[in-house]
Amino acid sequence: MRLTDNEIRDITKYLEEGKPLPDKYRFLLFDDKRHVELIWDDVYEVNSQAIERINYPTQKPEKLLERIIKASSNKGDIVADFFCGSGTTLATAEKLGRKWIGSDLGKFAIHTTRKRMIGVQREMKEKGKDFRAFEILNLGKYERQHYIGVNMNLRDEEKQAQLIQKEEDFKLLILHAYKADNVQGYKVFHGKKNNRLVAIGPINMPVTRLFVEEIILECREKLITKVDILAFEFEMGLFPNIQEEAKSKGIELALKYIPRDVFDKRAIDKNQIVFHDVSFIEVKPHIKGNTIAIELTDFSVFYNQDTKEHIEATLKNGSSKIMVDNGQILKISKDKNGITTREVLTKKWTDWIDYWSVDYDFKSKREIVRVKNTDTNEDDEKWTGEYVFENEWQSFRTKKDRSLELKSATMECKKGRRKIAVKVIDIFGNDTMKIIEVTI
Ligand SMILES: C[S@@+](CC[C@H](N)C(=O)[O-])C[C@H]1O[C@@H](n2cnc3c(N)ncnc32)[C@H](O)[C@@H]1O
Repeated sequence: MRLTDNEIRDITKYLEEGKPLPDKYRFLLFDDKRHVELIWDDVYEVNSQAIERINYPTQKPEKLLERIIKASSNKGDIVADFFCGSGTTLATAEKLGRKWIGSDLGKFAIHTTRKRMIGVQREMKEKGKDFRAFEILNLGKYERQHYIGVNMNLRDEEKQAQLIQKEEDFKLLILHAYKADNVQGYKVFHGKKNNRLVAIGPINMPVTRLFVEEIILECREKLITKVDILAFEFEMGLFPNIQEEAKSKGIELALKYIPRDVFDKRAIDKNQIVFHDVSFIEVKPHIKGNTIAIELTDFSVFYNQDTKEHIEATLKNGSSKIMVDNGQILKISKDKNGITTREVLTKKWTDWIDYWSVDYDFKSKREIVRVKNTDTNEDDEKWTGEYVFENEWQSFRTKKDRSLELKSATMECKKGRRKIAVKVIDIFGNDTMKIIEVTI
C-alpha cells in the first residue's frame, strides 16, 4: 500500500498535534498481506551496555533494521545500504539469510563494518549456521579524477593550460589543508611548515623513487635537512629504505598520506583533516614442511604530525589533543590554569594495531572489471592491474576483547615460490600492506 499525499499530510497533522493516530493509519498493508505498524514506539536506541553497540556515532538498533528487512524482502533477496555506517543493515541482513551490498565514503565506517561482519560470521559458525563470504572493494580515486578532469572539447593548448591551472590549484588546496605556507624558487618543493620543506606528490600517480631522489638532490644542493612528502600513494617497497638512505645523507624525510577528505571543504574548515604518517610492517615467516604461519614482529609510525611545542602553544586551557610524536601517541592536556602535561598513550608497538590479516597466496586473484564493448555491445572482462587481497586469516580487537594474536594460523600450501601479503590497519583506520616472497 502506498500513502497518498493527502494521507501523509493528514498523518503529519496528527503527529504534530501529538494526537493518537486513527486505526486506519496504524498499519501498512503489503501485497502479500503482511502488515507492519506505521508508528514504531517499541524500538529504542542502542543502549551503552548492549552487546551490539560498537560506538559508531549514528548506529541504529538491529531490531529496527530487522523489522524493515523482514517487512520488505524475502530470504535470498539482496539488501543494499549505500550509507552503511557501522553496518547494522548488513549484519541484520546476513542474520536473516539475505544477500547484501554495502558502501560508505568513510574509511572508519568500512573498517567498523568489516569487523562487525566477521563477528557475525563467527557467531553464525558457532551456531552451526551457513554464512556468506564477502569482499571489500575500493571503487577508486574518483574524487581525484574529478578534480583533474580537463574539458575535452578545448583545443590542445587550452587543455594544457587548464591542466596546469588545475595542478596549481590542487597544490594550493593541499598546502592549505596541511597548514603550510606556499614557497617559490625551488625545483621540487611547494611549501614550508614548522621549518620543514613540503613536497607534494602527483595527484594521479604514486610517488616514485625518482621523485624522492630529486628531492634528496635539491636538499643536498641547498643544505635542506627536514622534508615532508605528502602523497595519496607511495610506490611499494619505497618505504622505509629510502628514508634510511636519506638519513645517511643527513636528511630527515617524513612520508605522509594525503587523506581523501582533503576535497571536502567543510572538513578543511572544521580542522578535521589529518595527514597520517606512512607506517612500516615487519613480519617473520615460520615455514615447516609444506606449512606456513606468519608472525607480526614490528609495526611503526615514525614521524611527527605537528610539533609538541606548536600544539602546546595553541591549545586552549581546559582542553586536550592527541598527537603522534616519534612513533608514540601523546595526549597533551592543558588544565584550567594553563599547566601542560604530556601522557604517552602507546606503551608498545602493538598498541597501534587494530586489525591485521594475511593472504597466503597474494597475486593469485586478479581484480577484474567488466567494461562495455561498444562494437559488440557485450561486456568484456579487463584486468585493472591490481590484485584482490583475500582475507584468509585475521586477528582484531573488539570493544570487549582488546587482545591481539601476533602469530597467524598455520596454513598448508603447495610447494614452490609464493607471495604472501600482510595487511595491518592501525587505530586510525589506515591500512598498510607488506608483501614477502617465500619458498615452501
Ligand atoms: C547515518 S550514517 C549510517 C548509520 C548506519 N545506518 C548505522 O546503523 O550505523 C550515514 C553514513 O553515510 C556515509 N555517507 C555520507 N555521504 C555518503 C556518500 N555520498 N556515499 C556513501 N556514504 C556516504 C557517512 O560516512 C556515514 O557513515
